[in-house]
Amino acid sequence: MTKKTISGLALSVALISGAQAADVEVMHWWTSGGEAKALGELKQSLAKQGVGWKDTPVAGGGGSNAMTVLRARVLSGQSPTAVQMLGFDIQDWGDQGVVANLNQVAKQEGWDKVVPSALQQFSKYQGKWISVPVNVHSTNWVWGNKAVLDKIGVGVPKNWNDLILAMKKAKKAGYVALAHGGQAWQDATVFDGVVLATGGVDFYRKALIELDPTALSSDTMKRVFDRMAQLRGFVDKNYPGRDWNLASAMVIKGKAAFQMMGDWAKGEFLSAGKQPGKDFVCFRTPGSQGAITFNADQFTMFKVDKAHQQAQQQMAKAVLSLEFQIIFNKVKGSVPARTDISGERFDDCGKKAIADLKEAVNKNSLVGSLAHGHAAPAAIKSAFYDVITAHFNGEFSSEEAVKALVSSVKNAS
Ligand code: BGC
Repeated sequence: MTKKTISGLALSVALISGAQAADVEVMHWWTSGGEAKALGELKQSLAKQGVGWKDTPVAGGGGSNAMTVLRARVLSGQSPTAVQMLGFDIQDWGDQGVVANLNQVAKQEGWDKVVPSALQQFSKYQGKWISVPVNVHSTNWVWGNKAVLDKIGVGVPKNWNDLILAMKKAKKAGYVALAHGGQAWQDATVFDGVVLATGGVDFYRKALIELDPTALSSDTMKRVFDRMAQLRGFVDKNYPGRDWNLASAMVIKGKAAFQMMGDWAKGEFLSAGKQPGKDFVCFRTPGSQGAITFNADQFTMFKVDKAHQQAQQQMAKAVLSLEFQIIFNKVKGSVPARTDISGERFDDCGKKAIADLKEAVNKNSLVGSLAHGHAAPAAIKSAFYDVITAHFNGEFSSEEAVKALVSSVKNAS
């Protein structure tokens, strides 16, 4: 985002188009079945308090599309009340001076004490709360159809070779081995897990967070691309452009064996009436157990006129309230954005996600997802996207991808 273009507007108070005083206008990319159900919980919780909802969906995982639409809205002086946002994008908007200060409600509700520090780092800009975390997702997950795995005689893969072997068996038996949608953010989501599984957490940090040229150009990075190419051999020919939830549906319906996707995929399984352990299995990208590539959805609050401030504060408070966090995250497939909630009321995959997160925090192996804006700012993220996708689509060999990555990241930094 160009700082100059937006900061000219920073002093003008944003107006909300079409929203009543007691409404919140919410921009988000939760357009799939499972996501809509989770969002419905928030709408309901606000409706109970007399807060109305103006829905502004902009489809596209990772939020790049939403950020483009948002820029136009803010430039025309029509900021939404709240915008779903990830990691570094939140800080970018903090820079523009167009966001609200939530310190009062944060103090009342004790957010400093209950929100994990890995999230607070993104929610606060220069000491001010500007954003309200709603969940913690992670991207190093694989989802498998239980009946298909039983049929081809494989259990949960324990390491990379197991996974490849299982995919070979699935392919041979006539299933799509890996359900995937060829969209840059989905390719990058798979890449997150493959980097973690291949190089471990220290390598992930060096290459994707510190952008260390030695790590980026290493043999390990080449091996990561080799593995991406391996996976490419297991997708069906209709993968280009497919939405992620349609890929989930292939696993749900037993057309495909696996999907490598963040735990919002669980929301799709649940919304289709499927049960973890019985109908589907969830496991970490083999080789990455013990570490997590996380992304936390947050609602960044924009400056609104006086008439809308109360509804905005009510929404901020509702999002992080204890009971809502449980209800919402059970449906969404994510983990609560509070440290004081146990896994008790969650299903088996949810329990595992909560335990894994705790373990990763203790072992210092919790790292931000590159694909979902928690490892590097938007320009660098998109430099990665370009190379990962070009390689996945066969335009680059692994050696060429490594070279392209080093120079693209350098140019974007
Ligand atoms: C968000 C998830 C969302 C997914 C797919 C991710 O960037 O963090 O909440 O479900 O995209 O839309």
